[in-house]
Amino acid sequence: MVKPNAHQLFDEVPSHYDRRQELEAFDSTKAGVRGLVEDGVTKVPRIFISPPDWINEKIAANESDHFKIPVIDLGGTNMGSMDSVKHKEIVGLVKRAAETWGFFQIVNHGIPVEILDEMVEGVRKFHELPKEERSKYYTRDTSKMVRYNSNFDLYSAPAANWRDSITCFVAPVSPNPDDLPLEIRDSLKEYSTHIMKLGVVLFELLSAALGLNPSYLNDIGCLEGLVILGHYYPECPEPKLTMGTTKHSDPGFLTILLQDQLGGLQVLCQGEWVNVPPMHGGLVVNIGDLLQLISNDKFKSSEHRVLANQADPRMSIASFFSTSIWPSTRTYGPIKELLSEENPPLYRETTVADYVRLTIGKGLDGTSALSHLKL
Ligand code: OGA
Ligand code: NI
Repeated sequence: MVKPNAHQLFDEVPSHYDRRQELEAFDSTKAGVRGLVEDGVTKVPRIFISPPDWINEKIAANESDHFKIPVIDLGGTNMGSMDSVKHKEIVGLVKRAAETWGFFQIVNHGIPVEILDEMVEGVRKFHELPKEERSKYYTRDTSKMVRYNSNFDLYSAPAANWRDSITCFVAPVSPNPDDLPLEIRDSLKEYSTHIMKLGVVLFELLSAALGLNPSYLNDIGCLEGLVILGHYYPECPEPKLTMGTTKHSDPGFLTILLQDQLGGLQVLCQGEWVNVPPMHGGLVVNIGDLLQLISNDKFKSSEHRVLANQADPRMSIASFFSTSIWPSTRTYGPIKELLSEENPPLYRETTVADYVRLTIGKGLDGTSALSHLKL
């Protein structure tokens, strides 16, 4: 049997302890990190303490003008004509952002700000429910379409994150509304309908940015699956010792992220950590590993992380376009139209489920799973 990562890493540090037992004890509270904070912890329990090299990486973000995440105004995309000057300009901006940053923010995306605010408030209300109420949803049962838990990779990652999440599998099969907590039931339905529509627009722009027919990415099923996570990052007594979310790239095709006004999300660009500043009414879009794979490295799935913070809880809602572990036999490899003698395929083909399984099995350990598929 392969040794878990946690042990490989912690064998090197003197503080031996029964990590598994402490993880299980935390998990069995079914109250998440928020439960620890409610109980008044003043120290970060050791299962959450980041390995020393991650902590050393916690240097200040680069705030120079050269490092500003692009903001793209989508206002011109629904004017009908794909050939309009405005549309071409937007495709150009999306192309540049996807090729360099792998991250951009969008405004005038068509989702009313009230719907965004309601979604964030719903997620807050759920995570702030009394312990007994929210723990009813606490599970790691992968057959459940709605799951509340802390750290999907609790038992495989080298260090746990200061974060709880409610995960909802929305497409290809939508959850039974009765399975959704009341706090998010209506807002999630409305929000996900909007996210699906926005997904169509974004994949059209990204197809055009790759020089393909606008419906290309939609036709090959990039929009088939949608998983929405409502994250809650409780206030942390010792934020320098742990992470909100460990450095990672997203496994799916594309992620649309709604964050509240607190900040803490950073993206790695040319070796520098750069803040993704909160923008009320805006949304963050980032390229996932599978889109990097099928674009044959033309688009970049950038690493990002979330810092823990001392002041207030932070909410974010991450919508992943991915069928995730939903079994489908469809395979994805570098798009043939993009290949040539000078541009040979860089990756093997995979199914979405196999790729996601690879990333889940490994947990957030600061490395990318894409390298496993490199030719
Ligand atoms: C994620 C993620 C960032 C955030 O869910 O993959 O990177 O701000 N979230 O919560
Ligand atoms: Ni992410």
